Amino acid sequence: GANAMWGGRFEAGNDAIMQAINASIGFDRRLARQDIEGSRAHAAMLAATGIIGSKDAEAIREGLLTVLSEIEMGIFPFRVELEDIHMNVEARLKELIGEPAGRLHTARSRNDQVALDFRLWVRDQCDAAITGLEALIRAFLAQAEAGANWVMPGFTHLQTAQPVTWGHHMMAYVEMFARDRSRFQDARARMNESPLGAAALAGTSFPIDRNMTAQALGFDRPTANSLDSVSDRDFALEFLSASSICAMHLSRFAEELVIWSSAQFRFVQLSDRWTTGSSIMPQKKNPDAAELLRAKLGRILGATVALFTVMKGLPLTYSKDMQEDKEQVFDAADTLMLGLAAMTGMVSDMTANRDSLAAAAASGFSTATDLADWLVRELGLPFRDAHHITGSLVAMAERAGIDLPDLTLEQMQSVHGQISADVFDVLGVENSVRSRISFGGTAPDQVRARINDWKARLK
Ligand code: ARG
Repeated sequence: GANAMWGGRFEAGNDAIMQAINASIGFDRRLARQDIEGSRAHAAMLAATGIIGSKDAEAIREGLLTVLSEIEMGIFPFRVELEDIHMNVEARLKELIGEPAGRLHTARSRNDQVALDFRLWVRDQCDAAITGLEALIRAFLAQAEAGANWVMPGFTHLQTAQPVTWGHHMMAYVEMFARDRSRFQDARARMNESPLGAAALAGTSFPIDRNMTAQALGFDRPTANSLDSVSDRDFALEFLSASSICAMHLSRFAEELVIWSSAQFRFVQLSDRWTTGSSIMPQKKNPDAAELLRAKLGRILGATVALFTVMKGLPLTYSKDMQEDKEQVFDAADTLMLGLAAMTGMVSDMTANRDSLAAAAASGFSTATDLADWLVRELGLPFRDAHHITGSLVAMAERAGIDLPDLTLEQMQSVHGQISADVFDVLGVENSVRSRISFGGTAPDQVRARINDWKARLK
């Protein structure tokens, strides 16, 4: 037979394949809680404005609570022929309370209803991302604090560049994840307007109070244009975009962990809790969690591109295309929350190998810049000349198979006669990092100051 909710003008029911392509209940059941919350606020407003009677509103309120408990207990009878979560909830409400259920949808459409439910869901996910990021930032802060003055090589092109501190490297990720956090905060603030009451697309002739429902649902205000309200999915795109940037950051540290935990680097040891063994090679401890985190951006960015592609070129207002928004966001959100939790665990449990870091910091001519700076400062040479002289010294050391501090004073003076023995002070990596005292530089005092800034800001 025809559909019970909208079948008035229909004689026949849908083809089975039509049902398969049309129904969203398989995934939008995740919006059940938001749907019921929205309906409760709507019903209370309808009663307060005299659009429905208070007895009916009370019956609706109690019925919705029963529906919610059925969903929570896992006994709610989801029915695919009812298409989506909105009609499943309303149909069940009708079974439970009868006629008053039919008054709930007054001055409302599934178009503003789904825009509301989905916005509430995405808003919760912003909060979850913010909380997850704060835990991750704290894990990085703890690592930074433990090794604020431990030296390690800093890289450009993955070639040894200049010595830095472990704390400084950890704090670089604090900056990245703190920006991610603020992106979710911004997105949350922008999406915090209620579309409920836009109805199908044009608003409604009923004397509704949109401020009342907006307030009841924790929004700052109602949205200001009914057409935009039902056709806007910017909030989902912003969530996905912020998630993609965050997942990109996760992938970068994941990649560093993969490199750093290798036998060739041995910068860190990952905990057994986040690694796996090999079924054939007994020595192996594989960084699977890090590798998966390196890969997860694929899904999240994929979801982002997918939803942009769905939304691109859609005429106003609602089109059924927009039903394709949810699965992408659900998967991206699940992936992001899992990724944040896994990275937080891995960072908390990893052990930096201070000796390997220090040995690597001292190799690869990492203090060549310090030597060039010394020639400028002490001998008054132009930087370009100092650069050239230092390059010759590096080549000399490389030919001899030694590092810069191992050259003798005589060898150095053969390249520039005025070099004196105090040059050796700047060739040590500890001195090198201690000298980088510019704001935001790698000197341990700078690093400790930034750690304290962030700890205060997170409070
Ligand atoms: N299941 C639909 C969605 O996810 C709900 C809105 C349907 N509205 C409509 N006019 N068919 O977008």
